[in-house]
Amino acid sequence: MEIGSNNLADTPQALCAASELVNGGPAVPFDVNFAGQTCRAFAVRYEGQVHAYLNRCTHVAMELDWQPNQFFDDTGQWLLCSTHGAAYLPATGECAGGPCKGGLVKIRCSEDGQQVYWHTEWNLKPVDFGF
Ligand code: FES
Repeated sequence: MEIGSNNLADTPQALCAASELVNGGPAVPFDVNFAGQTCRAFAVRYEGQVHAYLNRCTHVAMELDWQPNQFFDDTGQWLLCSTHGAAYLPATGECAGGPCKGGLVKIRCSEDGQQVYWHTEWNLKPVDFGF
């Protein structure tokens, strides 16, 4: 399979090595084109699974991490927005407390043991995708 070779939805895009993401650890940032705009996104590992979201708080459209790539709270159980303390569930992006209005935009991921991929959707493309 050639990565990023067509414009179909659900095309895996290489994100990072699987070993770069550890449970409750720092995120790996990446860029996506979401609905025609370049947006920051991030991937984390939680309870063994990789999860990725747009890096955009639902309270105010700001990036969540004040310290680059630090999204987890001290317990590793919540993804926190450092601006006003909105808390999100790592596995779903659902709002779990604080001023968030709804959940984070989730980006589907997969991994094959060595490599992590994010998957395109109709409104989610690689940044170099030619519209
Ligand atoms: S901008 Fe995230 S909690 Fe206010």
